Amino acid sequence: MARRKLVVGNWKMHGLGSDFVQVEEIESAAAGHPQVDVGLCVPSTLIERASRAVPGLPIGAQDVHPADKGAHTGCLSTAMLADAGASMVIVGHSERREAQHETDEEVRAKAEAALGAGLLTIVCVGESLDVREAGDAVPTVEGQLDASIPRDADATRLAVAYEPIWAIGTGRIPTVEDIGQMHSALRQRLCVAYGDSGEAIRILYGGSVKGSNAAEIFAVEDVDGALVGGASLKAADFIPIIEAAALKA
Ligand code: 13P
Repeated sequence: MARRKLVVGNWKMHGLGSDFVQVEEIESAAAGHPQVDVGLCVPSTLIERASRAVPGLPIGAQDVHPADKGAHTGCLSTAMLADAGASMVIVGHSERREAQHETDEEVRAKAEAALGAGLLTIVCVGESLDVREAGDAVPTVEGQLDASIPRDADATRLAVAYEPIWAIGTGRIPTVEDIGQMHSALRQRLCVAYGDSGEAIRILYGGSVKGSNAAEIFAVEDVDGALVGGASLKAADFIPIIEAAALKA
């Protein structure tokens, strides 16, 4: 099935108002490649400013609380993100699973809240190096996916990001065979969970994606785009990844 490529930048805890020139350059590059969906998940402090400054570029958040409102100091609800101008959100990033001890159940609750609010929702999964070296990567990540994805999905608004933890920020990536094996396993799990609409859900690869390796990653079956950390901070690094996706669109 033909799925539109989706390339999303995750700025993590990077970015100040002074970085807006990057956001603007990314927006104009994205506009030049309308066959690719491009988005930028910026720190919460920048969501409103970014969505006003670049209305043509979907802006997202990097986390959300599952509750509508309440006594949750420091947290933001789906309605708050949407109110600030966000149209997408990442949930279950491994940095939050590790540092904030987020469980699959919490990630699923966040994903259900975000999808319910109409946000494009990117659910992250991925194995540690120990798990990969033990040969358990596929069953481990399948289990994570099964437990983290929403019970009912709107396939047009749900995406999954496979991000091996050992590939994040390290410059190391799995072989294209390993990426293909994982993405095809995840596709099968999505079809078990949602039937035919599992075919429409985009599965992104994340972990040390750069302009130099994007084309070979996008050529892998069932790779429908990328979730990009470090190389999304500068337009000059991010734009070649958008261009590589456009060539495969
Ligand atoms: P890097 O692209 O910096 O490896 O980060 C990947 C990531 O964690 C995106 O969410």
